[in-house]
Amino acid sequence: MEAMNQTEGKCNGTVSRRSFLRTAVVGSIAAWLASMGGTVAYFFWPQKVGAFGGKVVAGRVEDFPVGSMTTVRDGKFYISHVPEGLLAIYWRCTHLGCTTPWLADDEFHLPGGEKLHGIFHCPCHGAIYTPTGQVVAGPAPRPLDLMELTVEGGKVVVNTGKITQRERWDPSQAVKV
Ligand code: FES
Repeated sequence: MEAMNQTEGKCNGTVSRRSFLRTAVVGSIAAWLASMGGTVAYFFWPQKVGAFGGKVVAGRVEDFPVGSMTTVRDGKFYISHVPEGLLAIYWRCTHLGCTTPWLADDEFHLPGGEKLHGIFHCPCHGAIYTPTGQVVAGPAPRPLDLMELTVEGGKVVVNTGKITQRERWDPSQAVKV
């Protein structure tokens, strides 16, 4: 009886070791495959770089002189260089979301008498915005939204996944260059 128990114990011990080794080997292979799969997926999964939703390189700083307005279609934004600095303005109207074009030749008279030459004018319900994105007419409830803009190695980089709403235009929103 004792011998049988010893034999059983030995058998059980052997099976346990084999089972442990098998599990360890299978586990290692599975981990390796998962790691390889992750690497392959990383290379082939669409990375949101250079398109809406990710970071977009708009150009070099010198491509955007003061007073210029540049449309960057891939990112759905405008680079507006106002005297205070650079702004990346999302082209989506804050009323009901229509794409709002920049009309360089259009004019708008502000209530105080100042004349704007060049405006954003939403074709859907007529909202009008200044080059800073500030709304000055129409039903839009707030200025055009801003995207995060950084200058990296002389290049203007816009993170189209980071969109900020604002109550009003403030010079601190512009990135000085
Ligand atoms: S969607 Fe632009 S004014 Fe209505």
